[in-house]
Amino acid sequence: MQAAEFFRTYDDTSAAPWSGYANYVARENELYQAVAELYGDVQRPLKPVSIYKEELTRRIRSPQVRRYLETGVSTGESLRICADLELAIGIDPAPNVPPDLFDKPPFRLEKKPSDTFFRETFEAGTPDFALDLAFIDGLHVFEYALRDFIGVEALAAPGCEVLIHDVLPRRAAEAARHRFTRPWTGDVWRVPMVLRHFRPDLKVRLVESAPTGLAIITGLDPANSLLMERYDEVVAYGMGLKVLEFMAARDAHVAAV
Ligand SMILES: C[S@@+](CC[C@H](N)C(=O)[O-])C[C@H]1O[C@@H](n2cnc3c(N)ncnc32)[C@H](O)[C@@H]1O
Repeated sequence: MQAAEFFRTYDDTSAAPWSGYANYVARENELYQAVAELYGDVQRPLKPVSIYKEELTRRIRSPQVRRYLETGVSTGESLRICADLELAIGIDPAPNVPPDLFDKPPFRLEKKPSDTFFRETFEAGTPDFALDLAFIDGLHVFEYALRDFIGVEALAAPGCEVLIHDVLPRRAAEAARHRFTRPWTGDVWRVPMVLRHFRPDLKVRLVESAPTGLAIITGLDPANSLLMERYDEVVAYGMGLKVLEFMAARDAHVAAV
């Protein structure tokens, strides 16, 4: 399956549980307590080996990295590190950045959902760029982050590295698919789990970077269309994984390579 066809099918964000701040419950701590009592959801702090921004900055500054893409720009804290690159694409339907900050090269600020960006890019034919580094930090919902990975892999240059944010929730309550807590990872943790299962050719590392972990993925193959071809099966497998089981085995998942 071609990437254009895939993203034509899935460019639909109408039902997206947006990551807006409107859905916080005022009584978040009571909610945590209730979930803990009902499901034994205990707080499992990370043992941080780094801070995610350090991991990202080090890579952006590496001489091998010339072309970068980020889904989820927000205030542009990460994107602004990219001023010396050749190309820095930032995608966000609702970025919160000063008007002129990213209006000239190397920046390309795409004010749209990432699915729409990928559909438009692949529909336009063979892209005239390939990515050395990508940071997936858009909508914190499994299928959306998975499709971000699929789109990025199809655009990968040899040696491309992909970082996925928020893959190590500290308790199950913050991994809910709809945001109702202040710190919110959503269920992005499912993405590295399905990659390890369906794509053993990829190297998928989980790193305890503060605050909520990173997946670092290498060995990308832009010609590999397995995740597109078997998308429904991949999503069904990922949705079948249980967050409490993932939390209980989190250290083992981090240790696995
Ligand atoms: C956690 S913030 C990104 C932080 C940023 N990467 C940084 O390091 O400073 C998440 C952002 O994802 C954006 N977002 C939500 N849905 C999206 C989508 N479908 N595609 C791309 N970005 C999305 C939100 O508007 C929000 O600004």
